[in-house]
Amino acid sequence: MTPTVGHEGGGPGTGAVGPSAAAEPPRIIAYPDGPLLVRGEFEIVGPDGRPVPRSRRTVALCRCGVSSIKPYCDGTHRLVGFRTDPPEPADDAGPGTP
Ligand code: FES
Repeated sequence: MTPTVGHEGGGPGTGAVGPSAAAEPPRIIAYPDGPLLVRGEFEIVGPDGRPVPRSRRTVALCRCGVSSIKPYCDGTHRLVGFRTDPPEPADDAGPGTP
């Protein structure tokens, strides 16, 4: 099934994919209790290496595992009560740091 594009981001800063004056480096934002928002210039490819179609500059990638339009988020994470871990305290260097 070809992913639909109805929930590829949809927030501020979205726009159609196309030529731009300056390429924006990719930026991934981990949305609390929700998807990963990916902005900028990037390409999504499937396991076969083929590009996954998208029509927006910003997309929301499912990380709860229940979306029916993977790899994109369809908002179902709200219905299943998906929860992410709380953010690390600011003075913590994070996992893997000695
Ligand atoms: S993160 Fe939204 S449906 Fe999975």
